[in-house]
Amino acid sequence: MTFTAPLTLPGLALDPLWYRRAVFYEVMVRSFVDSNGDGAGDLQGLISKLDYLQWLGIDALWIPPIFDSPLRDGGYDISDYHNILPDFGTIDDFRELVTKAHERNMRIVIDLPLNHTSDQHPWFQASRADPEGPYGDFYVWSDTDEKYPNVRIIFTDYEESNWTFDAERRQFYWHRFFSHQPDLNFENPAVHEAVFDVIRFWMDLGVDGFRLDAIPYLYESEEGSGESEPETHEFIRVLRRMMDTEYPGRVMIAEANQWPAEVVEYFGTEEDPECHMAFDFPVMPRIFYSLRSQSAAELNRVLSETTETPEGAGWGVFLRNHDELTLEMVSEEYRQAMYGWYAYDPRMRVNIGIRRRLAPLLDNSRAELELAHALLFSLPGSPFLYYGDEIGMGDNIWLPDRDASRTPMQWTPDRNAGFSTADPGKLFLPVVQSLVYNYSLVNVESQLAQSRSLLHWVRNVIHVRKAHPAFGLGGVRVLETDHESVLAFVREYAGSGTQFGDAPERVLCVFSFAHNPVSARIRLDGDNGQPLWDLFGGGAFPSVRDDGVLELTLATQSFYWLHLGDRRG
Ligand code: GLC
Repeated sequence: MTFTAPLTLPGLALDPLWYRRAVFYEVMVRSFVDSNGDGAGDLQGLISKLDYLQWLGIDALWIPPIFDSPLRDGGYDISDYHNILPDFGTIDDFRELVTKAHERNMRIVIDLPLNHTSDQHPWFQASRADPEGPYGDFYVWSDTDEKYPNVRIIFTDYEESNWTFDAERRQFYWHRFFSHQPDLNFENPAVHEAVFDVIRFWMDLGVDGFRLDAIPYLYESEEGSGESEPETHEFIRVLRRMMDTEYPGRVMIAEANQWPAEVVEYFGTEEDPECHMAFDFPVMPRIFYSLRSQSAAELNRVLSETTETPEGAGWGVFLRNHDELTLEMVSEEYRQAMYGWYAYDPRMRVNIGIRRRLAPLLDNSRAELELAHALLFSLPGSPFLYYGDEIGMGDNIWLPDRDASRTPMQWTPDRNAGFSTADPGKLFLPVVQSLVYNYSLVNVESQLAQSRSLLHWVRNVIHVRKAHPAFGLGGVRVLETDHESVLAFVREYAGSGTQFGDAPERVLCVFSFAHNPVSARIRLDGDNGQPLWDLFGGGAFPSVRDDGVLELTLATQSFYWLHLGDRRG
């Protein structure tokens, strides 16, 4: 079966801004469901759980790399862009996944590391063997290891240099990540062509978008930092033009772990757009900082910064993902505070970050988990959940590197947590058996059976969010409060007038990071006397006072989402 533009596929709604309304779910295929008992998850396993994901309210899946790979970096080390790792299945299985997801109005976004390949990729093998051949210039080679001295090392726990000597070619090659992941040479136009071919191949299979993995690192220069160089942005602009012409409706999502002002650049401009979405790396660590410092000041500050983004561009908000909770882009003072709160055991750290899952980070506190999710689902941008966090899965810090939080999904209290029928010793990673997060306690089946479980709570919040387009499409206005622990903002949406018939609406979101109950006054000038209604139960709240102040009491680490103004309908 051939796929054309996804906008014409059965099942998919005709919504050009689908990615702004969508709730995304990052699912590592290897970790989700094993359909054939070989001990590792696969595409058929994922297909078998699409009903669960649909029930949860997921609109789009982000799938980390499933390409052929020696798996020395969780698949981010690709040895063949045109094939799927046999352990995961076949291209036909992938087609089936796309079709079955689309039938449910669910989109598929794949991960696309373009900055580097595995050293097992035939391009690299040819490049090291024959400097004069067609692939001789596909990677960044040098006679010395002294070029680009200003470029930082990312995997500080594993690498001492961004250069590694290749004994065969007798030159050094450049790599921003592991030394088995040589960087492609984007100065070479043939590399652009090869990369465009790869993108077209997957777009033709019907995927709805891709994550531009490690995108800031495409180009390096003698003077620059090797991050967000002008040529890198130029490449993205050209790519976006190709996508808009050949694959309208599909999206590009930037993984740019950079300082706030630099991340915004990955959206490009109105005339010359770059990515449709960018992960909100600036906001993520500040959520964790606020939870422990009991201060809303930092979140207040980043949310108040006005950033010009092109029409249609949107943030990807996340709490955790398959990588460490990165602390690269926070100040040294904050970093040390975060290590103290969240990574008191050195084993919990990796590189410049923390390799733990959400529930253990928050010490399994239900109040904190709810507060963190309430932020995830109401901050400007589209929320990205990480598989397993909806049930508060634990991690295993005795596993190496980021495998700590890539363990098998916990479905049932049965053998291997219902993830696989294999001999438990055969699993690619052991299931979590710790005291608190043991799979016999933390699993989908038992949470389905408890109406008050985290899983049901998360599902409910997702559905409330989706009933209110202001969260996906609206703007944000940060409000002044008189309590340092209280964050308040209004999400406001003028209505679309499209076939969706979205009416204008405003939602007041208030969060308390205090570790005790508090009372706070919030300034809502212009909304004097306006009524407020709880979005969950519909209950009436005290109105904004005639002097434009709203007085609220908040329980320990709690939040409100309140409809502001007269109730609709
Ligand atoms: C990205 C991925 C990470 C990977 C790295 C190198 O940052 O998220 O998992 O290790 O790229 O490929």
